[in-house]
Amino acid sequence: MSSSPLHPAPPAQKLGVIVVAAGSGQRLGYGLPKAQVPLGGRTILEHALQGVIESGVAERICVAVPAGDTALRRICARFSGPVPVSAVDGGASRSESVRLALAALGGDSGSILVHDAARALAPPEVFRRVARALSGGARAVVPAVAVVDTIKTAAPSGPDQQGIAAEKVSGTPDRALLRAVQTPQGFDAATLAEAHRKAAGLEPENITDDAMLLEASGEDVFLVQGSALSLKITTPLDLIVAEALLAGRQPKRIMEG
Ligand code: C5P
Repeated sequence: MSSSPLHPAPPAQKLGVIVVAAGSGQRLGYGLPKAQVPLGGRTILEHALQGVIESGVAERICVAVPAGDTALRRICARFSGPVPVSAVDGGASRSESVRLALAALGGDSGSILVHDAARALAPPEVFRRVARALSGGARAVVPAVAVVDTIKTAAPSGPDQQGIAAEKVSGTPDRALLRAVQTPQGFDAATLAEAHRKAAGLEPENITDDAMLLEASGEDVFLVQGSALSLKITTPLDLIVAEALLAGRQPKRIMEG
């Protein structure tokens, strides 16, 4: 979506923001819920909340935290101010955590952003880009970046291949058409709630983002530019990269996201 002096981009509207932070973080190997893991002297959740608040698009924030957690709830209370930050017990899967936070936010927001705490360094400008596209009339918006790897699809290789390889290549999608999508993802609130209601019977591990639920209902999902800084902190290597970015060793050009 572009703007010009004659057709300026609409101002970003204020939104309800869900931050999902109820993951266990097992793959980080810290023995702590991921959102509590330290990164550059603060926790992952603190970085994520700072990005949301700095963007200026949030009118209220609801954070899904692991059931029984107290440390992350304290962080939410500390960040709560002109933009209220509440916490709710998350569920066993990401999509359940989103559903629970949606219910806790209630029906007051016209539009909702859903953001992974694990994308702790997502730049405020990406939030504003998504919010502007929603203000412009889109009902579903996701930030995305081009894919640099060649991606293959895989299928079981069959019994006669056992001992050689468990899988074989079943296809190579055209890389020029592929995008890696990130969060924050933005939605018309009623459309998102309806998509989650319809998804109640699906296997939660197959729901890897919210946009796919709207795609399934035939909704147009629009793409805006994401950022390399919005990396999802999942493995110990990701944490090293995030630490380096925070330490200011990043090339200037990747800060432009
Ligand atoms: O597990 P995954 O890396 O897909 O998690 C993405 C985001 O969803 C993380 O921010 C994580 O905290 C959150 N999540 C959640 N509830 C779960 C599982 C993941 O809020 N049960």
